[in-house]
Amino acid sequence: MKKGLFITFEGADGSGKTTQLNKIKTFLDEKGYETVVTREPGALDFGKKIREILLHYDKNLSDKAEMFLFLADRAQHIEGLIKPSLEQGKIVLCDRHTDSTIAYQGYGRGQDINLLTLLNDIAVNNLKPDLTLLYDVSVETAQKRVGDEKDRMEASGIEFHKKVRNGYIQLQKDNSERIKLIDANNDIETVYENTKNIIMDLINKRLGV
Ligand code: TYD
Repeated sequence: MKKGLFITFEGADGSGKTTQLNKIKTFLDEKGYETVVTREPGALDFGKKIREILLHYDKNLSDKAEMFLFLADRAQHIEGLIKPSLEQGKIVLCDRHTDSTIAYQGYGRGQDINLLTLLNDIAVNNLKPDLTLLYDVSVETAQKRVGDEKDRMEASGIEFHKKVRNGYIQLQKDNSERIKLIDANNDIETVYENTKNIIMDLINKRLGV
């Protein structure tokens, strides 16, 4: 039985979501909540090997192989860490999850969205996030923040990243109850205030203060 809260952080490479996740963790820890910080791909030993291939494999990785690797990492992550942590009543803060697959492999690479949704459902075994924060930033700003040292995914080109951004925006429209849009073009403190307000709203409703 799930007792904790599952919150995912989504957005472009360079959207600043990881910075926000870490700030919120510190805030929630100070308030006495038990948190678990994790990420996809590569939270567990198994996933670290997959992550190495996904981000640094220098030969041609097919789009389908890429898709299955992200999903394999997710299936193991759900069973090995997310589900048990939620059963212990913890707040799980996860850097990227199912929406990344729809945005990157679906809208970005052009894989079938319905198929990806089904595969995501199989990977997570019906365990869905309670809340998803989508950090939306212009592609130009995101690219500047990432800099010149790009991994395999980041090096996929500006057109790819535009499709990913539009995909995320569509996903938010289709799931507006779960996914909350945050303007990540703003400065870190403004983005943090927005993040904190949305998360505390959920905590007050679901766990009590
Ligand atoms: P990472 O270094 O974790 O990037 P970030 O700090 O931006 O989260 O790299 C993860 C990369 O993998 C990122 O480019 C997004 C991509 N990705 C997918 O394409 N599909 C997925 O399902 C996931 C989880 C990530």
